[in-house]
Amino acid sequence: MKPLLSIVFLFSLFFIVRSQNIPLGSTLSASNLNQSWPSPNNTFAVGFIADGSAYFAAVTYNGFPVWKAGGDSGAVKSSASFQFLSNGNLRLINSSGAVVWQSNTAGRGVSSAALDDTGNFVLRNSTGVVWSTFDNPTDTLLPNQNFTSSKKLVSGLYSFRLLNSGNLTLQWNDSIEYWNSGVNSSTNINFTSPILRLQPIGLLSVTDLSSSAPVIMAYGSDYAEGTDILRFLKLDSDGNLRIYSSPKGSGPIPTERWAAVSDQCQVFGYCGDLGICSYNDTSPICGCPSENFVPIDPNDSRKGCKRMVEIQNCPGSATMLQLDHAMFLTYPPELVSQVFFVGISACRLNCLVSGSCIASTSLSDGTGLCYLKVPEFISGYQSPALPSISYLKVCGPIVPNPSASSLGNGKGNGWKLHAWIVAVVVIVTILCLVTLEGGNVKGIVDKRLVDHEMDMEQVIRAIQVSFWCIQEQPSQRPMMGKVVQMLEGITEIEKPPAPKAVVETSSVGGTSVNVSSTVSAFSNFAASAPAPSSSSSLQTQRISSFVSGKNLEKASSISSPHVSGRNMERASSSLLRSERDYHTL
Ligand SMILES: *[C@@H]1O[C@H](CO)[C@@H](O)[C@H](O)[C@H]1NC(C)=O
Ligand SMILES: *[C@@H]1O[C@H](CO)[C@@H](O)[C@H](O)[C@H]1NC(C)=O
Ligand SMILES: *[C@@H]1O[C@H](CO)[C@@H](O)[C@H](O)[C@H]1NC(C)=O
Ligand SMILES: *[C@@H]1O[C@H](CO)[C@@H](O)[C@H](O)[C@H]1NC(C)=O
Ligand SMILES: *[C@@H]1O[C@H](CO)[C@@H](O)[C@H](O)[C@H]1NC(C)=O
Ligand SMILES: *[C@@H]1O[C@H](CO)[C@@H](O)[C@H](O)[C@H]1NC(C)=O
Ligand SMILES: *[C@@H]1O[C@H](CO)[C@@H](O)[C@H](O)[C@H]1NC(C)=O
Ligand SMILES: *[C@@H]1O[C@H](CO)[C@@H](O)[C@H](O)[C@H]1NC(C)=O
Ligand SMILES: *[C@@H]1O[C@H](CO)[C@@H](O)[C@H](O)[C@H]1NC(C)=O
Ligand SMILES: *[C@@H]1O[C@H](CO)[C@@H](O)[C@H](O)[C@H]1NC(C)=O
Ligand SMILES: *[C@@H]1O[C@H](CO)[C@@H](O)[C@H](O)[C@H]1NC(C)=O
Repeated sequence: MKPLLSIVFLFSLFFIVRSQNIPLGSTLSASNLNQSWPSPNNTFAVGFIADGSAYFAAVTYNGFPVWKAGGDSGAVKSSASFQFLSNGNLRLINSSGAVVWQSNTAGRGVSSAALDDTGNFVLRNSTGVVWSTFDNPTDTLLPNQNFTSSKKLVSGLYSFRLLNSGNLTLQWNDSIEYWNSGVNSSTNINFTSPILRLQPIGLLSVTDLSSSAPVIMAYGSDYAEGTDILRFLKLDSDGNLRIYSSPKGSGPIPTERWAAVSDQCQVFGYCGDLGICSYNDTSPICGCPSENFVPIDPNDSRKGCKRMVEIQNCPGSATMLQLDHAMFLTYPPELVSQVFFVGISACRLNCLVSGSCIASTSLSDGTGLCYLKVPEFISGYQSPALPSISYLKVCGPIVPNPSASSLGNGKGNGWKLHAWIVAVVVIVTILCLVTLEGGNVKGIVDKRLVDHEMDMEQVIRAIQVSFWCIQEQPSQRPMMGKVVQMLEGITEIEKPPAPKAVVETSSVGGTSVNVSSTVSAFSNFAASAPAPSSSSSLQTQRISSFVSGKNLEKASSISSPHVSGRNMERASSSLLRSERDYHTL
């Protein structure tokens, strides 16, 4: 009898909990964050969350918002309230009493609201669902939530959609499509009304009435692992779409398991208008093209840059700022109107003389393509791995960004160190060429360098890489990507073959062209000379020795370019560049 009674009791308790509804007339206040409407087993809750000084009414999991009333524009202050009115309307009121967001369900017979254990907050009438958060997503998709082509996830200017073709797309400002991923064409499915779902085990899949099995679009890296883990798909404010994992009770920082755009700098507009995206060793960072520009918001580098002098205010003296290893992102629908087949000089000149062009990119990747950008939003990307060269129209004279050394943050030391590494590489190269002895790296490092704060391991790596870069046989010289990996220590550096002496012209202190071309790689952005006069402004010449005298002096002992010619020069400048990018900014 007893067990049966307790089972009945438990069952009725369960039933009571399951049917726990939020009654009409209930209110949550942002001034008390402890107040919430939990789901039956407490996995989710509806309540206010604080984000800096802003508050959002949200459905939360582990304190992390998975749905926000009004999305990004639902930010309110602490005296706001979230009301489930007796007329069935759900609304968010800010501190001055204005309606910030509402479900528009007044007078539709809504009799109750409830948050279920899947995270769906539902308003019901006597016969069924009138409104639900699953049908009105903001920036997050939960497991088993049906996402159709009529819906979108939004975060700032970014949006995510499922196309009727079954493709997934990311767009900026509802126009520029910077990511588009379709199902494997060999699956041969013609979608008619596709539904995207994140499966609880961490797979992103598309199903359709016409196809029996779901087509998998992406695997989270921890798919099918662990128990009691909630996965969700979120369009982040940086424009990337990610799958996250969050074990129950683990706190509000979920773990990233997949990102749609693997190279964050390829997200259109990530650094704002006229901003340039690049990487430090851990993260994408935003900067301005040159000191002819200033950040729009010094506190938020992602807001973009503005010109000190607008182009229309300097008629006749506009010139082209050259940005090496940089491109201006060009995606559909711009691809149709902004892409041309012209060489690098024409790519620059055509833009300079055209009133409707403000920037251009010569891809220099063998395609022969040139992008001519019209005066709209310009999104830049700079990386040593990019072969492209870009030009940006500015009012002269051009003021290049300061070299990394003056960027502060105590990084000056690092800069000095790198100048030293350069010096070491040079000295060692010469020594090595003279002695034809490559084995004993430690022996050839100048003892004086030990007094300086430096990472011996890094120096040795740089030296070893330099040996590879001066191989006589071009085929033995490593690719740039490999050089970077070797410098970063990602790739093991094999013992290079001893170089053969071909040192006819290794004049120490060989200054001039080769040296300055190496040095120019140091300056953040290669400089163009200011236009000497308005008449000759069309042909501004590039002068690379713009760098401060001190660095030039240090680097002037570089004679290696003479040794094995152009490739060494290129390799060493890229080497310096990658080192710089890696440790400064
Ligand atoms: C909320 O809860 C915390 C701890 O659970 C408590 O310290 C705090 O006083 C509560 N705040 C309010 C406004 O009730
Ligand atoms: C409340 O919202 C209204 C309308 O959007 C706005 O004019 C008002 O400034 C807001 N009040 C506060 C305190 O944010
Ligand atoms: C809560 O309910 C959901 C859905 O039924 C289930 O997946 C989850 O494991 C439950 N969590 C707990 C702690 O019971
Ligand atoms: C309940 O809502 C649904 C959907 O809005 C509607 O079709 C249905 O007529 C409503 N039922 C009642 C009793 O109001
Ligand atoms: C999602 O769609 C399926 C049918 O494809 C349906 O069975 C399921 O109830 C829907 N889920 C929700 C939360 O609406
Ligand atoms: C977004 O597009 C609209 C027109 O659709 C345009 O007016 C607006 O300036 C664009 N936003 C930005 C930041 O370029
Ligand atoms: C769908 O994506 C594929 C690449 O995955 C692309 O070739 C195709 O053009 C896309 N279709 C649409 C309609 O965007
Ligand atoms: C498409 O699927 C086929 C067979 O399932 C596979 O061999 C091929 O690699 C897939 N292609 C892509 C681009 O994933
Ligand atoms: C999909 O559509 C194309 C063209 O409309 C057709 O040739 C193909 O047979 C269709 N595939 C399936 C699986 O229905
Ligand atoms: C890289 O940039 C990020 C974001 O600005 C910063 O948090 C991080 O400290 C930087 N890392 C280095 C090594 O400078
Ligand atoms: C930047 O931050 C500082 C300190 O937090 C603040 O005083 C200043 O007003 C902010 N500037 C802008 C443009 O927001």
